[in-house]
Amino acid sequence: MKPLIVASTRPELIKLSPVMREFDRRGVKYVFVTTGQHYDKLLFKTFIDDLELREPDYDIKVGSGSQAYQTSLAMVELEKIMEGEKPDVTIAEGDTNSVLSTSLAAVKLHMPFAHVEAGLRSYDRNMPEEINRILADHCSEALFAPTEKAALNLINEAIPPKKIHIVGNTVVDATLQNLAIARRKSRILEKFPKEYLVLTLHRAENVDSYKTLKGIVDALTKIKENIIFPVHPRTEKMLQKFKLLDRLKKKFLIQPLGYLDFILLLSRAKAVLTDSGGIQEEAVILKVPCITLRNTTERPETVEAGGNVLAGVEGSRILEKVDLVLNDRKLYKKMRRAKNPFGDGKTGKRIVKILLEKHEKGELEISSPDFTQGFWKREFIAVDSKLHGKKIRNLNFDVLKIIENEREKYPYEDAKLKRGQVIEILRR
Ligand code: UD1
Ligand code: UDP
Repeated sequence: MKPLIVASTRPELIKLSPVMREFDRRGVKYVFVTTGQHYDKLLFKTFIDDLELREPDYDIKVGSGSQAYQTSLAMVELEKIMEGEKPDVTIAEGDTNSVLSTSLAAVKLHMPFAHVEAGLRSYDRNMPEEINRILADHCSEALFAPTEKAALNLINEAIPPKKIHIVGNTVVDATLQNLAIARRKSRILEKFPKEYLVLTLHRAENVDSYKTLKGIVDALTKIKENIIFPVHPRTEKMLQKFKLLDRLKKKFLIQPLGYLDFILLLSRAKAVLTDSGGIQEEAVILKVPCITLRNTTERPETVEAGGNVLAGVEGSRILEKVDLVLNDRKLYKKMRRAKNPFGDGKTGKRIVKILLEKHEKGELEISSPDFTQGFWKREFIAVDSKLHGKKIRNLNFDVLKIIENEREKYPYEDAKLKRGQVIEILRR
């Protein structure tokens, strides 16, 4: 099999590194492309080095620009690369503009696209990432959902269960694989006081709006704890533009950190304040209480596990939550004990195995339906005595989901149906 992997920003390099490693281990050669969305050394090359990845085969050098500029330019160039390389599958992770370009370029060439970290939803269409993840999922032939909740989001959008695989999140693999290395190699802790909070901010809706960014900065200035803030270039630019940088001079404002330094710093933090997606996950993996500076999250599992609280973006509400998390000892302890909902750290291996199997069986091909024998029909049916005890894999229709006690459940192949359940099915 010939995979083509597109990884163009720091979180994509981090979360695809376990997949790349597994392809390397199995001796499968992949083509590695970056659109060039992240081009600064501190957002890209540092991660290639820290993660010991090879240099990309292609760099489209799309750089920064408007949503449409970045997405369309990358798409045009990706199309040329895909036509030249003829990959058996194209793989991307997450929800950046580069991922949208990749998924659209592939599907329109009738080439299968596999989406790692599929099914996340914030239901906030003001986030560019929400649009990107919805569209990327709908362009995919293989969707790697980190959790059952993410898989159900996909099923509720009519994506067939056969395309969906619940595999955990590669962020666990990356964290576990690299924390030990970070402990050996990184000297970051020597530079700061022993007790501190970590802060990261970069979401467009937080930092591009004066009112929102000012509200967050107002709150930060009132927090007495040491705050270490590796500043994303977008945020630095906006803090400068809005003349808010001076107000943060008592905080430890530093350049974006390399991956090893960052995860070590995060792992020893008293708590983290963030609007990052990946850091909400890492916090719960590293058992560091997380305060999310957003009104929504596409990672509700972290909140339900008890490791993350949504503080919103208003100054007074942020201060309330920070006070609660740091001073309510019972809550703090509970947050430290939250169970990681993102799997066992073998997600990269699972993804590669599934892709190789699907390729072997021809299941990655983009097939057209045949309605000459009748249309597909979605129906709800009650599990009766005839269906009771039957396994999902042995039924002659597709089960989309199981509803039990008003709760939706994913129809795992080995699940046995029980009387009292209702199932949603697709008759072909
Ligand atoms: C992008 C993703 C976001 C992801 C984040 C990871 C989209 C819509 N956004 O956000 O989902 O969480 O990456 O960090 O895809 N800049 C530099 N150097 C660089 C790259 C960017 O200085 O190497 C500055 C530029 O001023 C640029 C701004 O950051 O205009 C924003 O960059 P962009 O790639 O559009 O979005 P991110 O905020 O990095
Ligand atoms: N990260 C890093 N250095 C930093 C800030 C973040 O290495 O200074 C890592 C962090 O460990 C996480 C990822 O970058 O894995 C998150 O990236 P980001 O917050 O930019 O994007 P998101 O996850 O929100 O898409």
